[in-house]
Parts: sequence; C-alpha cells; structure tokens
Amino acid sequence: MTEERKKRRHIEREFGVPFAGEILDPSQWTQTALKKLPATGPLDLPTLFGRTAPLIVDLGCGNGRFLLGSAVWRPNCDHLGSDVLPVVIRYATRRGNQRGSTNLRFAVCDAQRMLEVYLPPHSVAEIHCYHPQPYYDPSQVHLRLISPSFLALVHRTLVPGGLFFIQSDNPGYWRYIREIVPMFFDFHERIGRWPDAPKGRTRREILALRRGLPVFRGSGTARRDLDESTALHLAESLPPPIFDADRRLRELDE
Ligand SMILES: C[S@@+](CC[C@H](N)C(=O)[O-])C[C@H]1O[C@@H](n2cnc3c(N)ncnc32)[C@H](O)[C@@H]1O
Repeated sequence: MTEERKKRRHIEREFGVPFAGEILDPSQWTQTALKKLPATGPLDLPTLFGRTAPLIVDLGCGNGRFLLGSAVWRPNCDHLGSDVLPVVIRYATRRGNQRGSTNLRFAVCDAQRMLEVYLPPHSVAEIHCYHPQPYYDPSQVHLRLISPSFLALVHRTLVPGGLFFIQSDNPGYWRYIREIVPMFFDFHERIGRWPDAPKGRTRREILALRRGLPVFRGSGTARRDLDESTALHLAESLPPPIFDADRRLRELDE
C-alpha cells in the first residue's frame, strides 16, 4: 500500500468533509472524556489539562467537529466541549482519543450549568455556540439556550477581550440573537463562511450548507462597560427567547 493510501485510510470524513487530524496507532490514544464532574464545581482547569493555557469552550458541541479541529490547529490552547446528549459526546471523545489529543476534553453537561457551576469567572478565552436547537414544540421553548441569563453568564466567564462566537441557520432564532447579543457583547455579524472551514465548522453547518440554507454567523467581545451585577440586572429586563422558529424547518432537524 502506498504511503498516500495509508494516510487516506486514517483520515475520517463526514459528508465528504475530512475531520482534522488522523487516527493514530492505539498505543498513542488518550482519554478525552471528562467522566466525572465535581459535585459542586468549579473545575480545576490546570489539573485537568496539566498546564495553564488559554481555554476554548464549545457549548452544545454535538460530535465535537469544531473542537477536534481547533485542538489540532491550536496546540497551545486547551479545549472543552459539552453537550447534554451522551451519544454525541461518545462520538466526540472517541475521535479525540484516537487522535491522541492532550489539549481536549468533553463532558456530558448542560451548557448553562457548565457556565454557572464549573467554569470560574473570567477563565475562558473563547466561547463557541454553533446551531443551538430552535425547539419547535411550544412545550420545549423554555429549553432554548440563548437567553439573556445565558448571555450574562457567557459575559462573566470570558477573560477580558475574550470572544463569543454564535451561529444559527434558523432565521427566527437569529433575529432574536441579533437583538439581544449586542446588549452584552460588541457584536459583529460575519459575512461569508469561516475561512478555516469553508464547508462548515460543525456537522450542522455542513448539513445546512448542503441543503442551501442561509447560515448566520457572528462574534464579539464582552462589553467592558458592564460589570457582573449590571449584566445580571440587565438580563432580568430583557425578553426571553420567544420567536417563530418556523415549523417548516423542523423536518430538517429530523
Ligand atoms: C443542532 S445541534 C448542533 C450541534 C453542533 N454544535 C453542530 O453545530 O453540529 C444542537 C446540540 O445542542 C445540544 N444541546 C441542546 N440543549 C443543550 C444544553 N442545554 N446544553 C448543552 N447542549 C445542549 C444538543 O444535544 C445538540 O447536540
């Protein structure tokens, strides 16, 4: 077998788009699952990663595609992904382990709880949130992640100058996000795809692009004129994420 063919065997693809890194010999595999979270928090980050480095967090990380890539491309940063669904975290950790990642951990954990309990204030360099679920069923609307109180926690958790990234393919959700996020962040909508991943940074972005859906992207730094208690007060005065999620889009999620 030629070297090129051997290498291709070790590169995985999803919808034809490669995952970063390659599957190593099992002797080089690592443990990226954070199986047991402390009962009360916060996480001891230097002990968890065995060093002190800028931390990049993906909330609702799904199968971990974005962090798997970032961990390869940014070895000087640590990475933590969380999702409420154990099955997607199993996919993410398997790939992280097989790539021998030492700067990557995944946990089954609710995003709001991760911010509220496990991540100390001003401890994270970047917080990413790709395609939070719009929840079409009225009985599930209260589960929508991007809310004023969630954003106040993101604001609290970022280091000064740290960045929040948010993206959705749901126009109703995006209208809400565009209205609320600038209250907490100096926010800029991004025109066009991410240059590091033109076919999509995440599984859901790849799917949305393949289906011809518009993808809305933005990022921003925490507003410096807001301290923690002002941000919390502000959150109480802002509307919850009630918007028309457009049920016609529902079948795309199934
Ligand atoms: C549409 S998927 C997007 C996954 C991934 N970010 C992507 O772009 O491919 C939404 C993900 O958010 C997760 N999720 C929903 N509510 C959550 C919560 N409160 N905390 C953490 N994850 C959540 C779901 O389990 C699901 O994996």
